[in-house]
Amino acid sequence: MFNDKKVVFSGVQPSGNLTIGNYLGAIRNFSAFSDEYHCYYCVADMHAITVRQVPADLRKRTYETLALYIACGLDPQKNTLFVQSHVPAHAELGWILDCYTMFGELSRMTQFKDKSAKNADNINAGLFTYPSLMAADILLYQTELVPVGVDQKQHLELCRDIAGRFNQIYGETFVIPEGYITKEGAKIMSLQDPTKKMSKSDSNENAVVRILDSKDDIIRKFKRAVTDSGNEIVHGEDKEGITNLLNIYTRFTGKTLEEAEKEFDGKGYGEFKLAVGETCADALSPVKAEFDKLMADKAYLEAIMADGATEAYKNARRTLSKVKRKLGFTDIKR
Ligand code: TYM
Repeated sequence: MFNDKKVVFSGVQPSGNLTIGNYLGAIRNFSAFSDEYHCYYCVADMHAITVRQVPADLRKRTYETLALYIACGLDPQKNTLFVQSHVPAHAELGWILDCYTMFGELSRMTQFKDKSAKNADNINAGLFTYPSLMAADILLYQTELVPVGVDQKQHLELCRDIAGRFNQIYGETFVIPEGYITKEGAKIMSLQDPTKKMSKSDSNENAVVRILDSKDDIIRKFKRAVTDSGNEIVHGEDKEGITNLLNIYTRFTGKTLEEAEKEFDGKGYGEFKLAVGETCADALSPVKAEFDKLMADKAYLEAIMADGATEAYKNARRTLSKVKRKLGFTDIKR
């Protein structure tokens, strides 16, 4: 904590066009903290290169992710919005924390296992040590709260373990962060395989609804969503597809599950899927309009990136200096 406000930190990788999973599980919840906390939201481009990226696409998506942050309601005057690679303290602390993270701990990360299976020809060291860089992101700002989807829970727990280990060896250095995972929306599932998380890097476009998809595309994808052989619109363990659609519908409308089930009582799957698609498309349409405006003004986005990097560095530097002193690194005046 650098001033009287507690700190919130979160990040999104610009590794694909963002989905309604990213929106409902994370970004949409970010602005609620802006008044009470000092909020840092970063575009995690350094994390993105753990999987091969086309450079021009990565650059473009970095701007787009920043624009989406703002279009989803994050006021750059109230939040520190920045790009991870613009603040080298992340890489520096990331390396240091690598030396305090155990091989066994990293080997247990389910995301590492999943991504290794998907990228068998590129199981690089960065993919393996990814959670220590994520821990560095969080710990640099003495973060109290980390709003994320449930898929990041394991990384967050490791971050807490790393911070605790460091504190135990060197004395109080890092605040131990808490995750903030909303119950509903924490895991939006694929529309084609509702046992799998909706992922921005899914190669099946019908499985993923992107924040910037056109209304027609959104409706078409929901119409094709996999359901089950029954005909009742109720949630349940054996009805993963319908449960996911109900979950998406309630997140966009603010209705409870019971209210939604009642609303669609006696209606067919076709009608229900169309209603979910329309609701989702209508909710995202103002985000898209704002996004288009922002993307037309690159200079504005660059000014935000520059201000964000300056502000982030100012605070990250303090933690990094403290860590280096504790480790026994020498310092020079330049
Ligand atoms: P990323 O880019 O995969 O996802 C960004 C955020 O979206 C959430 N999310 C979901 N929530 C619900 N349902 C889904 N299907 C879904 N898919 C993704 C994620 O949980 C995340 O909150 N390592 C992080 C980025 C990161 C970060 C950080 C996060 C880098 N440094 C520090 C928090 C703190 C990642 O890959 O998120």
